Amino acid sequence: MTSSRKKVLAVYPGSFDPVTLGHEDIARRTLRLADRLLLAVAETATHSKSHMFSVEERVDLLREVYRDDERVECVSFSGLLMDFARDSGAHCIIRGLRAVSDFEYEMQMAQMNRELWPEVETVFLTPDAPLSFLSASLVREVATLGGDVSSFVSPLVMNAMKEKLLA
Ligand code: PNS
Repeated sequence: MTSSRKKVLAVYPGSFDPVTLGHEDIARRTLRLADRLLLAVAETATHSKSHMFSVEERVDLLREVYRDDERVECVSFSGLLMDFARDSGAHCIIRGLRAVSDFEYEMQMAQMNRELWPEVETVFLTPDAPLSFLSASLVREVATLGGDVSSFVSPLVMNAMKEKLLA
């Protein structure tokens, strides 16, 4: 039987500094709902943070992680997320929702984004419970202070962090 269902393109935007196992878990769950996934590193984040990797380095790391998955494309974007989503032909925006503390920020962004471009829905996915405390900013901080973050990032990200911290 041939399917006439339209192919769903999801955009998962974020800072991904660096991509963690929490992000990878959300991406894996997204691919249960969508046919294609665009992992989009924002050049402008709503909350400004200190960065470990440049935008280009973050995109490169994502590309390495998803090297073997042709459903996934990794890019950066500048300007408004909703302009990028519209120009990409996306059907939905994916955001991970870990805890109540994420809720207010995520709701604000989702509502603002809907005002900017109502054709695209924001979909919240929850990570696997053991990953629900994980954040890239904590991973950066712990790694910078010499802690072991190898259970929170993939081995290739771990190596990139080690190199970055030795540089
Ligand atoms: O991983 P983060 O840092 O929580 O991701 C936040 C991100 C990148 C999704 C958000 O800052 C964003 O969408 N930035 C692009 C600029 C934009 O559209 N800002 C208005 C958001 S309502």
